[in-house]
Amino acid sequence: MSGRPYDHARNAGNRGDVWKHAVLLTVVDGLAGGDAPRRGVFRYLETHSGRGRYKLPAQGGWNEGVGRITGREPAHPYARLAVRHLQSGEYAGSWLLVRERLGELGRAAAVTLHDVSDEVARDVHDAIASEGLHDVTFCRGDGFAAVRDAAADLVLIDPPYVPEPLPDWKRVIEAMDALQTPALAWYPLLADVTFPPLDIALPTFSVWWDGQGSPFIGCGMVATRAAVGPILGALPELERVALQMGAACQVRVPP
Ligand SMILES: C[S@@+](CC[C@H](N)C(=O)[O-])C[C@H]1O[C@@H](n2cnc3c(N)ncnc32)[C@H](O)[C@@H]1O
Repeated sequence: MSGRPYDHARNAGNRGDVWKHAVLLTVVDGLAGGDAPRRGVFRYLETHSGRGRYKLPAQGGWNEGVGRITGREPAHPYARLAVRHLQSGEYAGSWLLVRERLGELGRAAAVTLHDVSDEVARDVHDAIASEGLHDVTFCRGDGFAAVRDAAADLVLIDPPYVPEPLPDWKRVIEAMDALQTPALAWYPLLADVTFPPLDIALPTFSVWWDGQGSPFIGCGMVATRAAVGPILGALPELERVALQMGAACQVRVPP
C-alpha cells in the first residue's frame, strides 16, 4: 500500500463501498424503519466520514462496483439511492446515503461526522452550508478518540487501512469491543496480508471476489451484537447485491 494520504475519491463506488453501504443501509432500515420503535431523532455517528459526494471518472473502481448493480431494477434501498446519484455522475458517501434513507423513512436525523482531512473538512462544511444540511455536525480530528463517548443509535467506523492495515484493524476491534450501541466497521480482505478478521468474537459479514491480480480480494463488515438482527433478516437481498458484483458472501456469527 502507498504512503500518500488516503483519498477516498480514487475508490468511490468500488466493490468495497457497495458492500459497506448496502449492509449499512440494511441496518438503518432495521433500526429506524418499519416496525422499529420511533424515539425521535435518529443519532448517527461516523468516525471516518469522508466527503458526501464523489465525482466519478469515466473509468474507475466504480465500474466493478456500483456500475454492476444498475442494469436491473434495483430492489435494495441502497441500490436505488446509489443509482439516483450515479445518474448525476457521482457516488454518494456513507453519511449522505444514511441521511437520505432516514429522510425516506420519515425519521429526523442528527448526523455527527469525524475526519482528520482538511480537504474533507472543507468539502463537508461547504455541503452543510450550500445544501442546508443543518442536521449534520462535522468535527475535524481522530474518529477513534471520538467514538469512546459516543451517544448514538448507530455508529460506523471506516478507517482507510493505509499505509498499514493492521494498526487500523487493532483500533477497530478495540472500539467495537467497547461499544454497547449498534455499530458497524468495515475492513478490507487483502491477498498479501494475514488479516485476522475471521478470528474475532464479533459477527462478520464478508464478501470475496476474484481480484484479478489486485491485492484487494474482498471486504467485510464487523457488527456489534445489537446490529446483527437486521443483517441476518436481509441476507437474501444482500447476497443478491454481492452476486451482481461477482462476489460470494461468508457470514460468521460466533456463539
Ligand atoms: C474510507 S474513507 C471514508 C469513506 C466514507 N466512510 C464512505 O463510506 O463514504 C476514510 C476516511 O478516513 C479519514 N481518516 C484517516 N485517518 C483518520 C482518523 N484517525 N480519524 C478520522 N478520520 C480519519 C480519511 O481522511 C478518509 O476521509
